[in-house]
Amino acid sequence: MKLNGKVVLVTGASSGIGEATVAALVKEGAKVAAVARRQDRLDALVKRLAGGPGEVLPIKADIAEESQARDAAARTEKKWGRIDVLVANAGVMLLGPVYQANTEDWRRMVNVNILGVLYCTHAVLPVMIRQKEGHLVNISSVAGRVVFAQSAVYCATKYAVRAFSETLRKEIYQDNIRVTVIEPGAVATELATHITNAGAKEMIEQLVSAMKPLESEDIAAAILYALTQPPHVDVNEILIRPTQQEL
Ligand SMILES: NC(=O)c1ccc[n+]([C@@H]2O[C@H](COP(=O)([O-])OP(=O)(O)OC[C@H]3O[C@@H](n4cnc5c(N)ncnc54)[C@H](OP(=O)(O)O)[C@@H]3O)[C@@H](O)[C@H]2O)c1
Repeated sequence: MKLNGKVVLVTGASSGIGEATVAALVKEGAKVAAVARRQDRLDALVKRLAGGPGEVLPIKADIAEESQARDAAARTEKKWGRIDVLVANAGVMLLGPVYQANTEDWRRMVNVNILGVLYCTHAVLPVMIRQKEGHLVNISSVAGRVVFAQSAVYCATKYAVRAFSETLRKEIYQDNIRVTVIEPGAVATELATHITNAGAKEMIEQLVSAMKPLESEDIAAAILYALTQPPHVDVNEILIRPTQQEL
């Protein structure tokens, strides 16, 4: 097993990429704190992975609330005594044109996609610096590399994740902490189902129906690749698109 005994905190673990990542890590022997708001989904995941070989600790938390992000990290450290990896994956994609946008959608994206990543990072960093070892894996997007109409605020949040990650790497590499940004193209998950703007929802559904999208397991495999490199290798960025995706 490639991650035997490693302690990993995964946010957004109740569905999609986060859920698949927890499963992939547990299969490699990791001890995983699975964080999300939907307790029933976390409980179902714990049940599904009960056979191990790794372990899952379900933590119900809204990572857009600083105190809850901090508490999730504290509970993980209390349970297992360390935190080797943070996979900051929780995110929302509420697409729509800027003109007449529902600004509540903007606040949700900024709060979860940016502040959520920042709060979780800030909460685990002291532990990793004490350990003189750690790995931060931040889930950005193709939308953090190129922009699309009707995606201005989502793209802004994902560009922010990339800028934050690379800046942070320059601050902490001497503490032996690695930083990886994962940038998926279209992945078949429930992400787009939460879009509140009907036109934008239709636009993205049409785009995705014209290709074979990635599966969550494809992204989990990319994360596993980054995590299983030798200690002197820091995979900084992985951009991974469906073969048929142009943008
Ligand atoms: N699917 C794609 O095509 C694609 C492409 C590029 C990047 N991404 C990125 O990949 C990440 C995962 O998305 P996904 O596609 O797997 O979508 P998903 O299935 O909708 O998963 C999103 C996860 O984030 C969690 N979450 C949302 N708000 C949260 C909050 N305030 N606190 C804690 N957890 C929260 C959700 O759990 P609860 O609702 O239970 O809290 C869920 O587990 C996101 O950052 C997304 O931007 C996705």
